[in-house]
Amino acid sequence: MGPGGQILDWLRGAPGPLSGAELARRLGCSRAAVWKQVAALRREGYEIRGTPSAGYVLAGVPDRLGPSELSPYLRGSWRRVEWRAEVDSTQHLARDLARAGAPEGTVVVAESQTGGRGRLGRQWHSPPGVNLYCSLVLRPSAPLAVVPCLALVAGLAVADAVSDVAPLRAGLKWPNDVLVGGRKVAGILTELEAEVERVHHVIAGIGVNLNGGPEDFPPELAAKATSLRLASGHQVNRAVFTAGLLAALEARYTRFLAAGFAAMRSEWEAYSSLTGKEVRVTAPEGEVTGRVLGVDDDGALRLAGPRGELRVVGGEVTVADGYE
Ligand code: BTN
Repeated sequence: MGPGGQILDWLRGAPGPLSGAELARRLGCSRAAVWKQVAALRREGYEIRGTPSAGYVLAGVPDRLGPSELSPYLRGSWRRVEWRAEVDSTQHLARDLARAGAPEGTVVVAESQTGGRGRLGRQWHSPPGVNLYCSLVLRPSAPLAVVPCLALVAGLAVADAVSDVAPLRAGLKWPNDVLVGGRKVAGILTELEAEVERVHHVIAGIGVNLNGGPEDFPPELAAKATSLRLASGHQVNRAVFTAGLLAALEARYTRFLAAGFAAMRSEWEAYSSLTGKEVRVTAPEGEVTGRVLGVDDDGALRLAGPRGELRVVGGEVTVADGYE
């Protein structure tokens, strides 16, 4: 952590004002150097009030998801945060970091994306400063076959995090959309690099609509998507949400590695918005229809089809009555 980060930490933890002399003593530098650090923090958006007699007080932090804003709220061991004001896609930066050896739990967060990517080659609209766009580096020492379950595990963690910050009932639409009131609030894109027998890394990309208004959605999504603010009527503290999501992800992922998806299958099903619905699943190998029974221990969707029970391992689900 640099001197600016340390000053923020001390100001946050102080019961009252901290003098320039005290900060200089702690940093082992001059008061003029402290003043320069404070001026730089103010330029970054921190509201630091100060008088020569009383000292400095942290009166406000910017609504941003950088390491300094997240660190007071981070709870687990995943604390390496790479923040950017703008990227093409956090998936790309996380992949490059993973290729360069970034450890498991490294998270890339951006305020906006110019080329945000969704599943099945779609775009992920990523306006600045209102939502969460993050990509997490995972290095599961598990066979390739378990990787599809990671998307379900991530969905479960997002549903946990949504339920923690807002009095909302989150729903999971298999495989990994997170819905509130039948509208999408979050999407997950898992990508991997692997050999036949060994996973190098998985990049779990998560986009959550937090504080956007109707103007933040492209017209074609206006009726299908929402944000936590629109659904709950309350502004979400983005740093608190992000830290809660990382803690939930770490907890769910650790449990998944130890005990498999079977250990959380019933919790996943409790969030499922599809159980009992008549659906059509479109996959590259064709289309099937049936009534959703639940999910299997390996994350496959179970359907009661016209000719008996079916299992579907991937695809796009459409609900027959249109309401999810
Ligand atoms: C989907 O529902 O289609 C998945 C959307 C995933 C969006 C996130 S935002 C952060 C990360 N970076 C991207 O380019 N995509 C994922």
